[in-house]
Amino acid sequence: MAQPIGIFDSGLGGLSVLRYAKERFPDEAFIYLADQRRAPYGDRSREEIFSYTNLAVNRLIELEVKGVVIACNTASDVALDRMRELYPDIPFVGIEPAVKPAVASSQNGIVGVLATTGTVTGSRLRSLISKYAGASTVLTQACPGLVELIEDGLGDSKQAEALLREYVTPLVSAGVDTLVIGCTHYSFVADRISDIAGPGVRIIDPADAVAKQIGRAIPIDGTAGLTRYETSGDAVRMRRQLLEMFDEESPVYPSP
Ligand code: DGL
Repeated sequence: MAQPIGIFDSGLGGLSVLRYAKERFPDEAFIYLADQRRAPYGDRSREEIFSYTNLAVNRLIELEVKGVVIACNTASDVALDRMRELYPDIPFVGIEPAVKPAVASSQNGIVGVLATTGTVTGSRLRSLISKYAGASTVLTQACPGLVELIEDGLGDSKQAEALLREYVTPLVSAGVDTLVIGCTHYSFVADRISDIAGPGVRIIDPADAVAKQIGRAIPIDGTAGLTRYETSGDAVRMRRQLLEMFDEESPVYPSP
């Protein structure tokens, strides 16, 4: 029997990856697990993020997935390497801020990264910058409060607009010509970020590149094309969110 592919995020952000994954692999079955009860992860301790990620991965393995996508920069930073050690038989795909492609495509050598506090202060982003920045300048900007608004369906609100201006404007003033979306939730406000940054700034969202990576790391042999959604939070609310965001009418099941 064809097994599903598990996709996990603290909340709705990983749906940006799922959307492209479904387009690329329409016959695959997916299980999307959102840890909405414990989101946002960005301001939590590394121990908490590790144990929540482990719990989610265990749940996906219990559901017999053939591979796991950690569609969360923050959880990938903290837990991806250890997950690979703990579950050597499961192929994992993670996500990290797209510093390398941003530096490669920047014309003026000034790049900005928008991410959660956890990702900005974590070791992975620092090592990506020292590995790939070269002569370029890579500026990082933590965006506290943004994930919460997107989780509450307020990505288009005045509050979100004000926060985005607060976070994006200093990077633009510093001269960035390329901005990296370093948190999967921010994909859903990428157009707003682009409006604020202006036409001279290129936005790099790695969601589709991660979806593409699924095909390299996990066997593509599905026949069902179905998606099962689970949340540790309010299932009725997530069901409504799927309808509002994607016009998708689907049951949502509770997860531990
Ligand atoms: N979507 C997640 C990321 O890519 C994390 C958001 C959060 O829970 O803080 O980092």
